[in-house]
Amino acid sequence: MSLQDLIPVVNKLQDIVTTTQLEDLDLPLLAVVGSQSCGKSSVLENIVGKDFLPRGTGIVTRRPLVLQLINISEDDALAQSPRSESSNFNDDSSSDEINLEDHLRRRAQMNGNGTTKVHSPAEWGEFLHIPNKRFYSFQDIRAEIENETHRIAGVNKGISRLPINLKIYSSRVLNLTLVDLPGLTKIPIGDQPTDIERQTRNLILEYISKPNCIILAVSPANVDLVNSESLKLARQVDPTGKRTVGVLTKLDLMDQGTNAMDILKGNVYPLKLGFIGIVNRSQQDISDNKSLDDSLFSEAQFFQNHPAYKSISNKCGTKYLAQTLNRILMNHIRDRLPDIKAKLNTLMGQAEQELASYGSIPSNLTDSKEARGGMVLTLMTKFANSFVHSVEGTSLG
Ligand code: GDP
Ligand code: NA
Ligand code: MG
Repeated sequence: MSLQDLIPVVNKLQDIVTTTQLEDLDLPLLAVVGSQSCGKSSVLENIVGKDFLPRGTGIVTRRPLVLQLINISEDDALAQSPRSESSNFNDDSSSDEINLEDHLRRRAQMNGNGTTKVHSPAEWGEFLHIPNKRFYSFQDIRAEIENETHRIAGVNKGISRLPINLKIYSSRVLNLTLVDLPGLTKIPIGDQPTDIERQTRNLILEYISKPNCIILAVSPANVDLVNSESLKLARQVDPTGKRTVGVLTKLDLMDQGTNAMDILKGNVYPLKLGFIGIVNRSQQDISDNKSLDDSLFSEAQFFQNHPAYKSISNKCGTKYLAQTLNRILMNHIRDRLPDIKAKLNTLMGQAEQELASYGSIPSNLTDSKEARGGMVLTLMTKFANSFVHSVEGTSLG
């Protein structure tokens, strides 16, 4: 059992906690923070490798989006393709060894030689608020995020702290849980409340003040770092900078002859986890329908060919960011294992007591509230058992 294998288990626990509104287990997650238009959605889409986030002017993200990326094996992905008649849906996520580098190379090759894919592996999304429905179209996912945002937060209005939970199953993602948060904005637009800035700030703080939250603090390289809203907020809750990763976007938009080497080398702002430079698609690229694969390729070219960045190009870009995030997440889980285990033991004891008080559940009652509660507890006990078991089998060296 490697630490990599723990991430899907943690994701399941996170689901159960969300579903049952039970005590927060403080499970680890990554939150993306930054000012309006600094590139948060672009960074997230690059990590997932898919266009699926709503875009537009104003605050597009108005509810937290809790995004669980779940890596499945390529074989599973092929078997689960919507065109194959696979009825045996297995909810268990696989935790195969991931090689993002191989994967990116394959994607680039696929792109380069222009071959048509005969039977492509499945990638799909599932929303917690629409159980058992798979979204194979990422356009439909975007539309559903928009619908759900409007349903709860209204059209052209304020923000809501109620999260949207989305899982993406793919052989092309790393196991990660990411939270996309509304961007910081100074001036209310449309029908937004006058205190929109305070509301947004409080919502972001609600997530990033938890000690289990890794903060992805996005700052655009074409704005002075002194004015970075994300770093100001991160510093409030993580003053020593031990759980904040600096993400510097828009390196391509810096003034000619200037570069961000000082920041990237950690000489300007102290963050233990460092700064990673990124080049996302420009608005022109998006208008020209430049694919994310092409974007990843030209990003790598940008760093390799840049007179200053080429010396550190292996520590720049989206690919390096994804690898770094995965490593940080695993270390974080490892560090929190003793705490999580203690909390689970308590929850398990409570669940067992409550289960015993229900006795056995008659099948005609499975729709009743009590029966559902009982089933949730059974599920929880099952997962908690396997989690504690796997923790005990893990070498923490
Ligand atoms: P968000 O509001 O923080 O989610 O920002 P978006 O990801 O929606 O990006 C806002 C705008 O900035 C879009 O037009 C992007 O194309 C553009 N953008 C984001 N990152 C970069 C970058 O690294 N370089 C360039 N040239 N444009 C970028
Ligand atoms: Na910012
Ligand atoms: Mg956005």
